[in-house]
Amino acid sequence: MSLALKSDYAKQFLRENDTLGLIPQIEAAHKTIQNKKDDMSAFLGWADLPFNYDKEEFARIKAAAKKIQSDTDVLIVIGIGGSYLGARAAIEFLKGPMYNEISDGFPKVYFSGNNISGSALNDILKVCENKRVSLNIISKSGTTTEPAIAFRIFRKYLVERYGEAEASKRIYCTTDKARGTLKELADQNGWESFVVPDNVGGRYSVLTAVGLLPIAAAGLDIDALMKGASAAAKDYDVLDVEANPCYKYAALRNAFYRKGKSVELFVSYEPRFVMLGEWFKQLFGESEGKDNKGLFPAAVTFSTDLHSMGQFIQDGTRIMFETALTVNSVDNDVTVEYDDNNGDGLNFLAGKTLSYVNHKAFEGTVLAHADGGTPTLNITIDKCDEENLGRLFYFFEKACAISGYVLGVNPFDQPGVEAYKKNMFALLGKPGYEESKAELEKRLNK
Ligand code: PA5
Repeated sequence: MSLALKSDYAKQFLRENDTLGLIPQIEAAHKTIQNKKDDMSAFLGWADLPFNYDKEEFARIKAAAKKIQSDTDVLIVIGIGGSYLGARAAIEFLKGPMYNEISDGFPKVYFSGNNISGSALNDILKVCENKRVSLNIISKSGTTTEPAIAFRIFRKYLVERYGEAEASKRIYCTTDKARGTLKELADQNGWESFVVPDNVGGRYSVLTAVGLLPIAAAGLDIDALMKGASAAAKDYDVLDVEANPCYKYAALRNAFYRKGKSVELFVSYEPRFVMLGEWFKQLFGESEGKDNKGLFPAAVTFSTDLHSMGQFIQDGTRIMFETALTVNSVDNDVTVEYDDNNGDGLNFLAGKTLSYVNHKAFEGTVLAHADGGTPTLNITIDKCDEENLGRLFYFFEKACAISGYVLGVNPFDQPGVEAYKKNMFALLGKPGYEESKAELEKRLNK
């Protein structure tokens, strides 16, 4: 298991001093993390999580996952933002985006409550027909509207199908250990409950029960995931920007930002990384985008998006750099066969694997984009397994925290997320929000 960061394809865009000049700030960020780990209000619980986690709860997660596997065909995971992206990213990274179609004997996992779409919700209800269903409701606050609506509907569905007592055995709740509506409901109804630690924010919570229960229920090895994260926690604690790829990455992205490259494209060449890109977007977007600062995180999948976004990346406004995630050893490969007629002219590829062709696409793209003014940082991992994923999760979490401190923002709050909620609640007539309703409607020309 290893992770390497290559900046060769970005060399022509940077001078040595660009990252060297950031070393004092990286060192200060490193010390902040070291010194504040025990301060609950600093939200640094993720930093030691790979070894400092609740072992009793970890065993309960594995037992609950076994029970789900034995009595469930469809597990509905209800949550939004940090309360679903990590689990979904992990399942797709390890099993591919078609994991629900390619049945491997484990429960299918569907994610709900991450939007307010009736049709999306009805589609999942349809999937549940004639299937044995369980629910994992995940909300740290226990009050978020999107998952709360979905949970009300799915819970009623379970009670109608199974009766109150059996439904309660099929509901797993992941929330705050003491506070919130969900915690109260869980206590009243006796649902098996798991905890989102106080000092771990939503987008840093994939290695808590938030991510671990759905990941384990899907048949994946959460011991190996934690092992990879734990090795990463050790490796990326080294205070040497040149030798520590996590700190080097934080320095490089801040160096690009200071040169006007304010958009970071998370680039993957495998569709199984698409949801990891969504997780990356939330992690960096919510952590850094504040106080009128921050790199805008976007994600593209190549070669797919070379046929849509490729034109802009090659030739449009010069505001981006790329962080491409590639994998050294691809399983489940395909080889192009020789064809006697060669009607399609593809015999020059005969005997070549798709991973080889994909890699040539990567090399060609990196050079073309460099020529067009878009540099690429390249993160490589050995293979797509749990240990490598655990390492990747930790790598990005720590790089994000360090980067946020270097940028001069608090990487662990998200004050901007409240603005839409206040307006939506007022417009919906939620008690307590009456005052601003009339003014908002006037602005909407109602
Ligand atoms: O990172 C965060 O804190 C947020 O994105 C939350 O994960 C998201 O808003 C969901 O919140 P909750 O788990 O409280 O329902």
